[in-house]
Amino acid sequence: METIDAKSVVLITRNEAMRRVIRDIDRVAVSEASILLVGETGVGKELLAEYIHRVSPRCGEPLVKVSLSSIPAELLESELFGHERGAYTNATEEKKGLFEMADRGSIFLDDIDDVPIQMQSKLLRFIESRELMHVGGTRSKPVDVRFITASKVDLKELVKRNIFRADLFYRLNVVPFPIPPLRERRDDITLLVEHFNRLFQPAKQITFTQAALKSLVDYPWPGNVRELRNVVQRVVLLAEREVTQNDLPIELRLGGGDSMNLLIKECYRCFQEGTMSYEQVLTCLEHNLISTALEKAGGNQSKAAKSLGLSLSTFRDKLKKSSTAS
Ligand SMILES: Nc1ncnc2c1ncn2[C@@H]1O[C@H](COP(=O)(O)OP(=O)(O)OP(=O)(O)O)[C@@H](O)[C@H]1O
Ligand SMILES: [Mg+2]
Repeated sequence: METIDAKSVVLITRNEAMRRVIRDIDRVAVSEASILLVGETGVGKELLAEYIHRVSPRCGEPLVKVSLSSIPAELLESELFGHERGAYTNATEEKKGLFEMADRGSIFLDDIDDVPIQMQSKLLRFIESRELMHVGGTRSKPVDVRFITASKVDLKELVKRNIFRADLFYRLNVVPFPIPPLRERRDDITLLVEHFNRLFQPAKQITFTQAALKSLVDYPWPGNVRELRNVVQRVVLLAEREVTQNDLPIELRLGGGDSMNLLIKECYRCFQEGTMSYEQVLTCLEHNLISTALEKAGGNQSKAAKSLGLSLSTFRDKLKKSSTAS
């Protein structure tokens, strides 16, 4: 089975690692445990959060989604916890917070890695006591929510750098799920292409040439499934009957060496934005150099080593390191 359809949440995957994630999610979703989804942008964290809520016993109650990075820091507390009338100059009425709106249901806290440290202690207090107080209020109120959180980066790294509270991390990280990037589950690409093709062009039977499909499968997809969805939407809407390699955006038409160039740029961007550490950038590049060389050499390690100008033993060491890092 490649399509998982839980009450209108459609998840497409045939990838073994991803199916394992979903299998584990199915087991944990029925409990009350907090779930942390960790993955790059566009890997499907929000979709999985919806899936978790739909298959959980709370599915009849609301799922409230909060993008923590899009709420200005000074408004965060009153948005999450609500406020009393008169708490601020223009607070003319009492306002419920997002946690109260999620009462009996689930709350999806997206971009938890962006929460300011002062807010982290307030979140922790709420998670521990399951009671909250409106801003400007004097009485606390019990609120029953299930936490699903998402992060683009490994929170452990932020804990090490003292920008994320360790105690909050342990509360949220009860069951962590790392979601693999699309370039690590290339067997999902053609399935997703078919899915988005049907979704955006249901009336026409658009086909992709083999060469076009190969370019789609080979591309590193830094924006993951969201980027793939956008590309497929664009090309199938413009197509008459067939999508050829020439119909694809320029970055997808560039083969081999140039895709490495793009990868380097992407890694550098991740480094500048702070989503990858220096070490992670190097590991990612090395991993890609090694796996591309091996792929090009048809799996022949001696040939691959030679193409990189490495001795076979150094190549093997790096291959071992790279396969444990990925
Ligand atoms: N396995 C999948 N099957 C079908 N559609 C998917 C799958 N994974 C992701 N998508 C689609 O890809 C898009 C991006 O997914 P989503 O918004 O869940 O990613 P995200 O990890 O939350 O990204 P961000 O970190 O940028 O918020 C959505 O339109 C979603 O429906
Ligand atoms: Mg998201």
